[in-house]
Amino acid sequence: MSHTATINKLNKAFYAHYSHLPIHIFFAPGRVNLIGEHTDYTKGKVMPCSLSEGTYLAMRPIKQRVLQLTSLNFPDQSYEFSLSQELSPQKGAWTNYPLGVIQELHKAGISTGGWQCMYYGDIPTGAGLSSSASINILTVFAWSTCLDLNWDRWKMVHIAQAAEQNFAGVNCGILDPFAIAFARDQAATYLDCHSLVYESINLELPEHEWWIVNSNRQRTLADSKYNERYDTCIQILEKLNLHKSCTHLGGLLPKDWIWIAPILSTPIHQKRLRHIITENQRVSDFAQALKDKNPKILGQLMWASHQSLKRDYEVTGQYLDALVDIARGIDGVVGARMTGAGFGGCSIHLVRKNAVAEFKETLATNYYKHTQLEASFYPLRDNHALESIVFNNI
Ligand code: GLA
Repeated sequence: MSHTATINKLNKAFYAHYSHLPIHIFFAPGRVNLIGEHTDYTKGKVMPCSLSEGTYLAMRPIKQRVLQLTSLNFPDQSYEFSLSQELSPQKGAWTNYPLGVIQELHKAGISTGGWQCMYYGDIPTGAGLSSSASINILTVFAWSTCLDLNWDRWKMVHIAQAAEQNFAGVNCGILDPFAIAFARDQAATYLDCHSLVYESINLELPEHEWWIVNSNRQRTLADSKYNERYDTCIQILEKLNLHKSCTHLGGLLPKDWIWIAPILSTPIHQKRLRHIITENQRVSDFAQALKDKNPKILGQLMWASHQSLKRDYEVTGQYLDALVDIARGIDGVVGARMTGAGFGGCSIHLVRKNAVAEFKETLATNYYKHTQLEASFYPLRDNHALESIVFNNI
């Protein structure tokens, strides 16, 4: 849906609910990671880009010190929170995301004032496309703009990340809020999570298209297994540091195996670290191949990334493996891999333009045969940046 159609829809619904029109409307996209999975929390490298799908927030200030929250996605629910009391999370509620951000703003000594708010999002939820980080960045961006805080994008990233860690209890890395806050139209962003140096690289290829495929398998284990992988990386770092100073796993190179191999005797630790080290190398190579517009190399790196996530990091699962394995046998698919945290969610595919129809049909049919689930297809094009789309519309 275009911004215009969504603005009309939000204006109407806002008026029906609050008896006034909103005076500001903001938009934040979702994100997909092209390569560099489970590397951000080891301060390694990532390569995300934004989607055309995202989250909208329509808002209007009010005199009372309360936050009124509604969402077009949950039309039967409406909430009111007093801003004079400490905010606390409610199990499974979507309001945890905006409230987590408001709580972080309060911790930073910012008085947010009272607001009527209506959210709307078209990112499929539970699909690993960062619907939660989209709400978080949107909320920080909206308040930063409305309160004239003039925060830079890094400040927004850190507030959004802290909100997710402290309020939702997930040890998420910097990937998702970064991808959304720094998104550029038609570009992917290469980020070194240690130095925080980043670079936008044009996504378009003359004869190929990017496609996201949703396995429609919800990421049920994602949070617990995610935290488990995070803890394992901390244990590995501690172990290595007993022998040689090492500030972050993401800085290790293939040649470091010489001193690491005798120290890391646990096979699980070896596998996990092998993924981190090889994946970081793949991200650097991928960035170069994207600049060179070389689909063959991009594809090879995607297949290799998926294998490493399957065998060494063990986060793919049978549904994502089915999408990638079936895609591998389709003529015109040059690369595919799971994207996001894993355990369900989405895969990303690089497909020759003239093979797209065949790719969709064969993958949908064979995936259904294999899993009894329908796959959904989203082209990765016209991706949007974070933006204030209506401001001071009094
Ligand atoms: C989730 C997390 C990110 C990142 C990915 C895996 O999306 O929120 O920080 O770790 O998983 O690459």
